[in-house]
Amino acid sequence: MRTIRIPLSERSYEIFIGMGLLEAPGELRGFSSDVSGRRALIVSDETVYALHGERVSGVLREVGCEVQGASLFEAGEPSKKVSVLEGIWDDMVRAPLDRRSLVVALGGGVVGDMAGFAAATFMRGIDFIQIPTTLLAMVDSSVGGKTGVDHPLGKNLIGAFHQPRAVVIDLNFLGTLPEREILSGFAEVIKAAVLADEELFYILEREGPGLIGNPALIEEAVSRAVAVKAMVVAEDELEGGKRALLNLGHTYGHAVEAVAGYGAYTHGEAVAMGLDFAVALSRAKGLIDELSASRIENLLRSWGYKKAPEGLSAEDIKAAMKHDKKSSGGSVKWVLPLKIGEARWGLEVEEEIIDAQL
Ligand SMILES: NC(=O)c1ccc[n+]([C@@H]2O[C@H](COP(=O)([O-])OP(=O)(O)OC[C@H]3O[C@@H](n4cnc5c(N)ncnc54)[C@H](O)[C@@H]3O)[C@@H](O)[C@H]2O)c1
Ligand SMILES: [Zn+2]
Repeated sequence: MRTIRIPLSERSYEIFIGMGLLEAPGELRGFSSDVSGRRALIVSDETVYALHGERVSGVLREVGCEVQGASLFEAGEPSKKVSVLEGIWDDMVRAPLDRRSLVVALGGGVVGDMAGFAAATFMRGIDFIQIPTTLLAMVDSSVGGKTGVDHPLGKNLIGAFHQPRAVVIDLNFLGTLPEREILSGFAEVIKAAVLADEELFYILEREGPGLIGNPALIEEAVSRAVAVKAMVVAEDELEGGKRALLNLGHTYGHAVEAVAGYGAYTHGEAVAMGLDFAVALSRAKGLIDELSASRIENLLRSWGYKKAPEGLSAEDIKAAMKHDKKSSGGSVKWVLPLKIGEARWGLEVEEEIIDAQL
């Protein structure tokens, strides 16, 4: 088991990472004492709860947590909205939860974002813990405290920063996750490597997607990706600056998702295309050396990611990038790789350079 601490003074917390952690919850130091004797409501989606809900409730009860049942909703991004959140608030009131109670987010990023926002807003904020069950949630959304729901006019427009009390990453959950979802999550692992971990990049390069079958290497890769996120979040909790680094590959990736129609490509497939695009821009601006650029491109191909979407108009992608909420004052700010393990944020890129790559 690995433990990574997010140092945020009184909001500091531990992330536990390992295979089968929930089989011995007593060994998660600080975690069992934190949940013991407290009322809790599990928030999950119907798919995850059917697979893992009963077992996780049993484990929490084993360490003395007073689980009051579960608040469930239909799996998928369309559930990430205020009307579904109202159902969670209702279940919290009825449980009943109080100021000392806990919310347990059991699921992927949709569950984590919803459960975290429900916890952030109930009685002006109660504690919650994250038990992520998708790779994306393990390496990205469960860490860092961004919570919220979508608005009909845009993703994640309604939300709050609310850090979890603990994150338990039990890699056994990946055993039931479809392979396409696992590969989608690995795009964020590759992003973390390009941003700040050359050794992780090397491991991904050496092993290829066969790594997914190796529990020890999965633990290594997830831990390293979480460590990159933890480092960035610790330095810039509220995204005033440096946290923008985590958007590497996302300006173009979000545009591909929006133009292709949500669900046509997974988030990770689109982010992988965004990494290719960021390499192309960085090369055109002379910021990255050729060896680093081609290593990133070759890694993305060897992991099976497509370089560009099929059948989408360059004009539509360009328009969608301008709409991306990370654009400010009409100009999109880019995150571009400088070499493997280093990137720069807040960059302007001339329109002609973008046009030439689209
Ligand atoms: N808060 C953040 O910092 C942050 C960061 C990145 C992404 N996000 C958000 O995360 C969401 C995407 O998360 P996601 O990709 O995990 O999607 P998701 O939560 O919708 O999960 C994907 C699918 O996998 C199923 N599933 C989950 N765990 C499973 C398991 N172990 N076995 C079998 N099936 C399982 C779910 O039921 C769902 O159908 C988006 O809403 C995005 O905005 C948030
Ligand atoms: Zn992402």
